[in-house]
Amino acid sequence: MMKHFLEVQGLAKRYPGSGNEQNLTVFENANFGINKGEFVCIIGHSGCGKSTILNILAGLDEASDGAVIMNDKEVVGPSLERGVVFQNYSLLPWRSTLKNITFAVRARWPGWSKEQVLEHSMKFLDLVGLKGVEQRKPSQLSGGMRQRVSIARAFATQPQLLLMDEPFGALDALTRGLIQEELLKIWEETHQTVFMITHDVDEAILLSDRILLMTNGPHAQVAESVSVSIPRPRNRTDIIHHPGYYKIRNHLVDFLVNRSKELTASAASDTTNTEVSYDIHPVVVDPANDGSETAQQAQSKQVAI
Ligand SMILES: Nc1ncnc2c1ncn2[C@@H]1O[C@H](COP(=O)(O)OP(=O)(O)O)[C@@H](O)[C@H]1O
Ligand SMILES: [Mg+2]
Repeated sequence: MMKHFLEVQGLAKRYPGSGNEQNLTVFENANFGINKGEFVCIIGHSGCGKSTILNILAGLDEASDGAVIMNDKEVVGPSLERGVVFQNYSLLPWRSTLKNITFAVRARWPGWSKEQVLEHSMKFLDLVGLKGVEQRKPSQLSGGMRQRVSIARAFATQPQLLLMDEPFGALDALTRGLIQEELLKIWEETHQTVFMITHDVDEAILLSDRILLMTNGPHAQVAESVSVSIPRPRNRTDIIHHPGYYKIRNHLVDFLVNRSKELTASAASDTTNTEVSYDIHPVVVDPANDGSETAQQAQSKQVAI
């Protein structure tokens, strides 16, 4: 099998039950890969474990089972090679917009001159349309502007993997749309490898090369990998006219409304036999081309023991 830049292998998260409570298996058997330069979104209902997976990829949480391998090395603990953007901006409130970025850039490249740090930071502020407000403190910026600073900072430090947990979740629809386009612009310029959580199917289609779909928790699984076969560059107004757009969209909505529950129910009944562990890989689907490569990739349940 092809090796990816990032490999997630047999990942599981369980919480021990307290007292008479049963253990909680949030998700298990998560197996997927991400190629260098790919933009991958993950969608699933609240509580299925998306943030937990992202935090494990970041090295901020530990898996109960399985491993994350990036560039042939196992991920253990946080690193500057993996940048994270959370929903709540996480800017330093006492520093200006510019200094929030130069601070991170200097930490990343301690040998750079002051001019280099400044020039690099300004370039990324410019890419998200924030030139002119660089001296303002975060409290003097709107929510949308603050999130732009977080994105500029994350991209400016050029981590090998960029992780974003519902970065636009707190923004109004209009601002969200504008920032999505800025994110596309900055990504097309840098070709960072991105793993992003969203609950917005249109956002996922606009941004992603591939969308991973998770079934509902507990016992959630990464069930499908949906290809977004729509050429780039993309923009919000034209993309909806692409013949594949609604095929992809309908597929995602059908999964979220119907199949995410059904698949969880069948997986939960499968795993009642704890003697058996399954190696489950997401089914690869390409709705825009009406096809699925399910023949080889089909939910191949190989009995490991
Ligand atoms: N410390 C904990 N103890 C028990 N359960 C937890 C703990 N932290 C998180 N969970 C559970 O893990 C599940 C997954 O959470 P999360 O990854 O935040 O989901 P998502 O991001 O998909 O909404 C939730 O159902 C939550 O209740
Ligand atoms: Mg979450």
